[in-house]
Amino acid sequence: MAEQLRHPFLQGLSKHRGAQPTILVIFGASGDLTARKLVPAIYNLALDNLLPSDFYLLGYGRREIPDEEFQTQARDAIQEFSRRTLDDEVWQSIGKHVAYHAGAYDDPEAFHALAKRIGEIEKEAGREMQLVFYISTPPTVFENIIENLGSSGLAKHRVQGKVAAKVIIEKPFGRDLDSARELNRVIRRNFEEKQVYRIDHYLGKETVQNLLVARFANAIFEPIWNRQYVDCVQITVAESVGVGSRGGYYDESGALRDMIQNHTMQLLSLIAMEPPVSLAPEAIRDEKVKVLKAIQPLDLEDHEDPDAVRARYTAGLMNGKPVPGYIEEENIPQDSSTETFAAIRLSINNWRWQGVPFYLRSGKRLARRVSEIAIQFKQPPGILFSGNRNFDLAQNTLVIQVQPDEGMTLLSNSKIPGLETRTQPVKMHFRYATTFGSNTPEAYERLILDAMVGDSTLFIRGDETEASWELFTPVLEHWRECNGAGLREYAAGSWGPLEAERLLWRHHHQWRRPGV
Ligand code: BG6
Repeated sequence: MAEQLRHPFLQGLSKHRGAQPTILVIFGASGDLTARKLVPAIYNLALDNLLPSDFYLLGYGRREIPDEEFQTQARDAIQEFSRRTLDDEVWQSIGKHVAYHAGAYDDPEAFHALAKRIGEIEKEAGREMQLVFYISTPPTVFENIIENLGSSGLAKHRVQGKVAAKVIIEKPFGRDLDSARELNRVIRRNFEEKQVYRIDHYLGKETVQNLLVARFANAIFEPIWNRQYVDCVQITVAESVGVGSRGGYYDESGALRDMIQNHTMQLLSLIAMEPPVSLAPEAIRDEKVKVLKAIQPLDLEDHEDPDAVRARYTAGLMNGKPVPGYIEEENIPQDSSTETFAAIRLSINNWRWQGVPFYLRSGKRLARRVSEIAIQFKQPPGILFSGNRNFDLAQNTLVIQVQPDEGMTLLSNSKIPGLETRTQPVKMHFRYATTFGSNTPEAYERLILDAMVGDSTLFIRGDETEASWELFTPVLEHWRECNGAGLREYAAGSWGPLEAERLLWRHHHQWRRPGV
């Protein structure tokens, strides 16, 4: 039964990629992320036989929850959120090793008690085990947890005399440059960088991992992947959902912090980076940081044509149904000036990209959920096919659709069959679902496994997060100083405000309609 549920590529595979026996401790164990993503990811790893032979999951949170109740919660979460149905045999194999430990985040004593509990688990298993700490709490307690992992000795937990402790840190990693630097300082006081795994779940998405393969395992893209051939790059991360019940968090965050500074910039750095010297994590991360450092500060002083536009949604229609505006959502203060949409124009000042605009946009309550990267190529010289209405020509565009309907499309021009020469844009498609089937692993499966194995390629390095904050902190400060001035509006269900269109028009470009 379990074998049938496995992904076709994994059937018969029984390797666990070398993860050592592990105790995974989740801080924030009764939270939403644990139920929706982390527990289902662990279950799917178990289903694919990718967990180490000895694996324990220990939930940690402030609330007292008996082990049995936490096990039931975990089972229910799998039933509700797993991409594959619950197989009882597989659940039994991990369920018996699921436990819960209650404690405060800011109490050193509680962490000594945690260390004791971990010792008991090791005793039960009859071996020393590596510790993976997953911090999935609100960011206000990140630093407490990290300091207490340090002071309790857990950060230096050893297996056969060698440090075997890792810490996975959820977003948001800071809310500006200063807070990110401070968080990095606290981390470095207690852990070495090689023990640290900063999450950006976009890096765990299949299509995002494929960016490196598409760029560097093919010969045809690299020669034209530069300022000589590329006209502009457009990255859209659009969501159709509103803020829902997350108003309290979101209003403190906004689109720039929530999506652009992290997820969208990760897409940009993978698209724009130079070829790494190898696939080693540091080789790849070095190149990502280099590209972030080459991005020019945004110009916001030019009021006619600033490099950043922000807006929030007003009431509108989604799939024909009326939805409220941002300010009418739960827990949003009436005087809020938080943006639910941001569009940015960036210039990368290096040999490859100078003069090629990179346009980024992300927002909630946009017309549809779609994330895509479009590389728009320059037009050929207009000597042969131009100036004639028989020639309907599109700019060559390579569209990488990150989600949903994952795939890649190349837009080119073709002769329409017939006795005269007329042209029309045509598309070549590659779709994951048709080529590989649709049940591909979720981002968190890959990321949790990689952290257990010790592969940090798909995680963000400390200097990388600071480089990205360095770019956007002045924007956040500028917007704060302006208060609500300059905050535009767009109707829910649209593609954003007119000003976001203007960001491109002035440079003779136009946003693509994503997915088309
Ligand atoms: C999270 C943001 O990081 O990413 C959310 O906090 C957003 O606001 C989510 O909805 C989007 O993730 P995905 O994987 O659904 O594109």
